[in-house]
Amino acid sequence: MIQKYDKRNDNIKVWIDNKLYHRNEAKISVFDSLVQGGDGVWEGIRVYDRHIFCLDKHLNRLQESARSMDFKNVPNNKYIKDAIICTLKENSMYDDVHIRVTLSRGVKITSGMNPELNQMGCSLIILAEWKPPIYKSLELKLITSNIRRNSPLCLDSKIHHNNLINNILAKIEANNANVDDAIMLDFDGFVSETNSTNIFMIKNSIIYTPFAKYCLPGITRGLVMDICKLNNISIVEKDLSLTEFYNADQVFTTGTMGELANVVEIDKRKINIRGNLLNDIRILFSELILSKEFSFPF
Ligand SMILES: Cc1ncc(COP(=O)(O)O)c(C=O)c1O
Repeated sequence: MIQKYDKRNDNIKVWIDNKLYHRNEAKISVFDSLVQGGDGVWEGIRVYDRHIFCLDKHLNRLQESARSMDFKNVPNNKYIKDAIICTLKENSMYDDVHIRVTLSRGVKITSGMNPELNQMGCSLIILAEWKPPIYKSLELKLITSNIRRNSPLCLDSKIHHNNLINNILAKIEANNANVDDAIMLDFDGFVSETNSTNIFMIKNSIIYTPFAKYCLPGITRGLVMDICKLNNISIVEKDLSLTEFYNADQVFTTGTMGELANVVEIDKRKINIRGNLLNDIRILFSELILSKEFSFPF
């Protein structure tokens, strides 16, 4: 599975610090903290039918990440919202769009790691692209990575930061194995998530997902859990081993980029699919999007 270049993105405009630039001119400084240390936080957000899905949830997570990283002069949610809407309108983008909002610690006065070299406040980048949900019609094959997901002892996964190297190394293992993505374990060997999504399994009509100890507590993950609770579908957070995933009735991943995606194979073990509760949850998820309950109209 590899995303293809979409010609509709030939002439998109990208927001960088209060201005829109043609994609070919959209550049950040070599002194920016993202270049110097991956020192930024980000959100992936989706647009459906003139509505920005879960905008407030994403902006609140962005603010919490920035606060945890002790960023200074962080733009407020109103400013970021206005910048997102301006970018979407300027690109005439109203549906089928993915937005990557990145907030960097900003430009440094000289190269170096020390945040005290940042004396100009944060930089905000809004990259909106035409991009359908990438996993939607796919049957995903996964392997287990040798790279562990971050523990809060090292780097808390509750910060949605730009230091993605461990996920990238896991993705390289998946690429080399010719599969779609890699499962990452925690330090005790329990399943945490994949290199880019949260993961769920179904067994005997009960939905299970790992505790959000090592994984990002994804917004889609949270919505799926809420959908289950509202519809009397049993949902349990638990330490789950690979063995339990190999023997599940269904396995799926969740994320803004790919919504809910069906997993058919893990480490060359085919999932012995029984029942189709995943389909019911997918329908409920689509209904939630259509209901616009959490969406911001523009
Ligand atoms: C490592 C990781 N896990 C899970 C997710 C899914 O999170 P969400 O549902 O909030 O998009 C993401 C999304 O960026 C991610 O980077």
